[in-house]
Amino acid sequence: MSNDKHDDDPLIQGHNYDGIEEYDNPMPGWWVWLFWICVAFAPLYVLGMHVFDIIPTYEERLEAEQAELAELRTAWEAQNPTFEISNSAIAEFVGIEEAILAGEALFSANCAVCHGNNGEGLIGPNLTDSYWIHGNENVDIFNVITDGVLDKGMTPWGNVLSPEERSQLVAYIRSIKGSDPEGAKAPQGTLYEDEENAS
Ligand code: HEC
Repeated sequence: MSNDKHDDDPLIQGHNYDGIEEYDNPMPGWWVWLFWICVAFAPLYVLGMHVFDIIPTYEERLEAEQAELAELRTAWEAQNPTFEISNSAIAEFVGIEEAILAGEALFSANCAVCHGNNGEGLIGPNLTDSYWIHGNENVDIFNVITDGVLDKGMTPWGNVLSPEERSQLVAYIRSIKGSDPEGAKAPQGTLYEDEENAS
């Protein structure tokens, strides 16, 4: 028997399970501390959670964090207002020197190939006359620039130019109205008589 040879060892408890023996070592100090801390924590937790209600539940914490998130979102939206596409919002750009100049630069770079250097029309229609295929309100022009007219060869710019840039283009197109540039293309679309008043 294996425990026979340890009978004289005072550290052996005398346990013997199928030849497996164990020493009677004390539990490590850190383990015992952890155990007592857990024991002490349990009633505090029960009291804090169910009696005094000072420990927030999962739902309460979720609610608090969602409120915090909503606050962040509101703050972000306040700092980054989404561009509201309306006649009046775009009108803020129309007639403004800075916007017209910015629009002119954008036009030369992106649009002149099809609409001519001065908007007189080439592949695309003349943008200086009073005739419009897609309407002559600010939003009409803005939306054509945004969505394009793919089957007619007008490319969409919604993913390329920001709403501000597209509004600058509207401002530029408004500014060349009636300029009657050289080589102006024949009118296309509907005549808008009251164009002078449109903004
Ligand atoms: C690849 C050629 C091409 C480019 C580039 C192009 N356009 Fe056009 N555009 C067209 C064509 C073609 C039409 C006519 C669509 C139709 O017949 O419905 C058009 C129509 C328009 C209209 C509507 C005109 C109307 O009578 O209703 C506007 C406004 C316009 N383009 C602005 C722009 C601006 C601004 C840019 C640059 C960001 C631009 N286009 C770039 C080809 C182009």
